Amino acid sequence: MYGTGIITFLATSLLSTVTQAGPLLPRADPIVVYPTFTSQYNAKTGAVTFNTASGLVSRNPQNGGADISTLVTFELPAKYSTNKCQLVFDLTNSSSSVSGTGKAQLYSALAPAYTSANSWPSGNLRDQDLGSIIVVKGKRATWDTTAGGLLASVNGTFDCSDIAGALFGGEIVPRGDTVEIKWPALFDGIKVLVT
Ligand SMILES: *[C@@H]1O[C@H](CO)[C@@H](O)[C@H](O)[C@H]1NC(C)=O
Ligand SMILES: *[C@@H]1O[C@H](CO)[C@@H](O)[C@H](O)[C@H]1NC(C)=O
Repeated sequence: MYGTGIITFLATSLLSTVTQAGPLLPRADPIVVYPTFTSQYNAKTGAVTFNTASGLVSRNPQNGGADISTLVTFELPAKYSTNKCQLVFDLTNSSSSVSGTGKAQLYSALAPAYTSANSWPSGNLRDQDLGSIIVVKGKRATWDTTAGGLLASVNGTFDCSDIAGALFGGEIVPRGDTVEIKWPALFDGIKVLVT
């Protein structure tokens, strides 16, 4: 009787430890990697302003074709090559804003921006369509799974080995007739979570 009691007690306390472990255990936070460089591309003039303090994605019917897209350059260290990565876009900084459709389309670039330039070969450097995001103030953007793209159906996840140890260029392009999304570089906007 005594023995059974102990065992029952042990089993009970073990069980309660196990059931409580989930919420009590601190979850390892993902490592956050922001783009090393954020730059702005003017689709009308073709000019690139390299290494800007903010990201900007904008289009409206009155801008005469001077759409702005943001070029980002990521440098993910090679040591993360066995990790899992996720491309996310947050808009949680108080100085960040979104209006209009709130939609943007993400592309990988054939070459990352590395300097200011009078012209950037529009479209030519766009490589793969990574998918479209719906940006909401105060939240993490969601992927628009109806719009296709490489990462939309997997919620932005990929093997870090795809980009680790190399420069990775991307472009964030306005989607819809009227949209403006703005964020402070290195504090908000697009980033890679490494887990
Ligand atoms: C929000 O962005 C500003 C730069 O515009 C930065 O100084 C500030 O630290 C950021 N706030 C947070 C909570 O990251
Ligand atoms: C997508 O990823 C985000 C951030 O990691 C997470 O909060 C969200 O629940 C995920 N959504 C789906 C559908 O898996």
